[in-house]
Amino acid sequence: MTDTPAAPASVDRTTEPWWRSAVFYQVYPRSFADSDSDGVGDLGGVRERLGYLELLGIDALWICPVMRSPMADGGYDVADPRDIDPLFGGIAAMDELIAEAHDRHIKVTMDLVPNHTSSRHPWFVAALAAAPGSRDRDRYIFRAGRGPSGAQPPNNWPSIFGGPAWTRVTEADGTPGEWYLHIFAAEQPDLNWENPEVAADFEQTLRFWLDRGVDGFRLDVAHGMAKPDGLPDMARVQTTMLVNDDSDPRFNNPEVHEIHRRIRKVLDEYPNAVSIGEVWVDDNIRFGEYVRADELHLAFNFRLAQAAFTAATVRAAIDNSLAAVAPVGASPTWTLSNHDIAREVTRYGGGLDGVARARAMFMVELALPGAVFIYNGSELGLPNVDDLPEEVLRDPVWERSGHTERGRDGCRVPLPWEGATPPFGFTAAATSWLPMPPEWAGLTVESQLEELGSTLSLYRMAIQLRGVRPEFAGPRIEWYGSPAGCLAFRRPGGLVCVLNTSAVPISLPPGEVSLASARPENGQLPANAAAWLI
Ligand code: GLC
Repeated sequence: MTDTPAAPASVDRTTEPWWRSAVFYQVYPRSFADSDSDGVGDLGGVRERLGYLELLGIDALWICPVMRSPMADGGYDVADPRDIDPLFGGIAAMDELIAEAHDRHIKVTMDLVPNHTSSRHPWFVAALAAAPGSRDRDRYIFRAGRGPSGAQPPNNWPSIFGGPAWTRVTEADGTPGEWYLHIFAAEQPDLNWENPEVAADFEQTLRFWLDRGVDGFRLDVAHGMAKPDGLPDMARVQTTMLVNDDSDPRFNNPEVHEIHRRIRKVLDEYPNAVSIGEVWVDDNIRFGEYVRADELHLAFNFRLAQAAFTAATVRAAIDNSLAAVAPVGASPTWTLSNHDIAREVTRYGGGLDGVARARAMFMVELALPGAVFIYNGSELGLPNVDDLPEEVLRDPVWERSGHTERGRDGCRVPLPWEGATPPFGFTAAATSWLPMPPEWAGLTVESQLEELGSTLSLYRMAIQLRGVRPEFAGPRIEWYGSPAGCLAFRRPGGLVCVLNTSAVPISLPPGEVSLASARPENGQLPANAAAWLI
């Protein structure tokens, strides 16, 4: 009789909220899967692929904005926050998705956009028709221009997407009039959060979706919303997208915390709901303020996504992210990519090395305490598509930069599901909304699913181990000494994670290798690889 190995003890998650250590999967809905053959992904597509997501082993979805939108910024320009755009299947598709995801024990979180609306939101339409100084204009940030005829913008702020952050309107009598603020595209006017109607409406939106069963929200530009008194000029005009510059007056003004406290009060009425803020704030103390007990539950920390593939940089990013949340007792978050930044395979050098490094970094992030966010397609090892033809580019950055910056479309190309030619089962239409590279034939879900050495299989095995093994327990990590170009840390539960960013194989510490991103040989971990020892 042979011994039956004991089943791995399940990690007891009942003592802490589900989201503190959850694996979230970010769906960029236009690019995930198309159910109605129009070449654009939709919520029906997500529902049809829930079996795949269950197999992957994720705990929760984060769905990028699907509310009614003219799509000037891929849905981050919301015209009605309490309805689903017909492009994505309307509200019935959302209800069905929530119900079926819950049947499979997958939570559903939505992306909400509190900083701005679409310029086609009824409030903004009314504001344009109304007079300066009116109640309708007060929901947004309208100001007179500078200079004798008001022809200069009210201050020197640039839009994140290029050009000025102000657009001048034509008044009802046909004369050039006030300017309105839009930190992003002109189609995304910033709301005035000092107007009580704005906060009240947002609370209504939160309740609307929570009552329909969503499990929480990702809050877009959660360090925005509050603007400094008098809207002072920027000392240093910052035009690069998504950098942490703590002196930037457009973001991270102290009044934003009062807004988060109001939001939290609503979420607290729904005890299992989570809020996750997009917070581009560099200073650790100021970052930590967003995740105090009465503000956001979680905040994205982008340091790992910004770190180059060297052990020293990765270690510094980890230490920093842990230090940022430790003083307030919040859970750290880890993310390697999202719909705004180049895919990790490409950032780490592309080609086989890029894939090897991305696989290794996934194992590092999954070994860390806290919540993990996977961007759709990372599990397939997709690279960025940096040679999209100019005529297909949709990101407003392309136009607003005067065609000098291509923007973020390269990380938003649809997922390849099956078959040998584009659109690889993503849609039954002849083409997808962004074209897919023919070389992706070897990266489809179909081609990776049964392949033990594939990136998809590595993701599945890693997520599964992390979910069931007690060695992943404990809120801390302890660094081990390691050779140059390497790092090693241990979780209190017993897991040891080793990363080799050097150019040569390294000897592994003693222990059983339970998973490795590249096969160790003679006790040596290859370059560009990571391993878990238990
Ligand atoms: C956030 C989103 C980004 C969007 C911007 C404006 O940074 O992640 O995609 O363009 O906000 O809403």
